[in-house]
Amino acid sequence: MSALPTSSREWHLVARPHGWPAATDFALREAPVTAPGEGRVLVRNLHFSVDPYMRGRMNDVKSYTPPFKLDHPMDGGAVGEVVASNAEGFAVGDHVLHGLGWREYADVPAKHAVKVDGSIAPLSSYLGVLGMPGLTAYAGLFEVASFKEGDAVFVSGAAGAVGSQVGQMAKIKGASRVIGSAGSDEKVKLLVEEYGFDAAFNYKNGPVREQLAEAAPDGIDVYFDNVGGEHLEAAISALNVHGRATICGMIAQYNATEPAPGPRNLALVIGKRLRLQGILVGDHAALQPQFVQDVAGWLASGELKYNETKVQGIEHAYDAFVGLLRGENTGKMIVSLDA
Ligand SMILES: NC(=O)c1ccc[n+]([C@@H]2O[C@H](COP(=O)([O-])OP(=O)(O)OC[C@H]3O[C@@H](n4cnc5c(N)ncnc54)[C@H](OP(=O)(O)O)[C@@H]3O)[C@@H](O)[C@H]2O)c1
Repeated sequence: MSALPTSSREWHLVARPHGWPAATDFALREAPVTAPGEGRVLVRNLHFSVDPYMRGRMNDVKSYTPPFKLDHPMDGGAVGEVVASNAEGFAVGDHVLHGLGWREYADVPAKHAVKVDGSIAPLSSYLGVLGMPGLTAYAGLFEVASFKEGDAVFVSGAAGAVGSQVGQMAKIKGASRVIGSAGSDEKVKLLVEEYGFDAAFNYKNGPVREQLAEAAPDGIDVYFDNVGGEHLEAAISALNVHGRATICGMIAQYNATEPAPGPRNLALVIGKRLRLQGILVGDHAALQPQFVQDVAGWLASGELKYNETKVQGIEHAYDAFVGLLRGENTGKMIVSLDA
């Protein structure tokens, strides 16, 4: 076995952002690396995830996940190679998915590491299409929104990790029409030409309500909300009687410094008997085996496509995170350390 490294670089949150995160809110620091203790593995991270929910963890507020501690390493999804093992069932060379991203080397309790197979799918895909965002799309569409064949579906953030899978899964399962919105004309082109959406629009090109009405002349039955704000209001207007909305994310307001106004047309929920329901992917772990089986099949048959935007090098993780919030990613945003 080659000698273990003696130190690892890791990202710390050093100040709580107010509004958009600034580079000075973060620091890349060195930490010592030691041999793993009983029941633990030392993992060299190859890819780690930056996700929108991490913005919420930078605030000191009570939420479903605890805030990042100042001057401590941040964490999140990561995939890497075991370089030292002190745990039964894990060997040097194994690839594992775990929760200690934002660092080069991770000292992981084996009970929190899941072996993944890079010969079945690229290792980075366990952070995206075969990972948490993919399961969010699957559970949010099929379980929370009670999608059924013939539904017309609208998804915002449609070129992102979750949204791109929602639209394609709806098509695969027989949606009558799938509409997506995204923040650039290139992304809109991708949705229609590569992912098979029936219609798509750039929300920066005009009011969402007008563009959605044009794209969905017969209304929508399901709205998958990744964005909130103007999108949610427009979708409530477009939803048909007994329509369902999965409230998955509200990225349009994650950097807001004042409370965002609610939808002005909420009273429509009554007459149309709409169901608006939040989702937390962690509640849907029971769907994991079915999700993996379905998605692996759709990937193999070519019915489901995905993109990843990889930012190379741990020193660029802040840029990757802020780039994600700005829409610089197509598909899953990933920081790769495998060069
Ligand atoms: N509830 C859960 O369990 C759960 C789990 C995973 C994710 N989520 C949520 O799902 C959403 C998507 O997550 P993801 O990981 O797939 O991220 P993503 O969509 O891959 O990346 C975020 C995207 O948001 C878009 N965006 C940024 N600011 C926007 C704005 N003001 N208006 C409209 N779009 C904006 C950008 O695309 P454009 O170029 O199109 O603007 C950006 O690429 C997020 O809201 C996230 O918090 C929730």
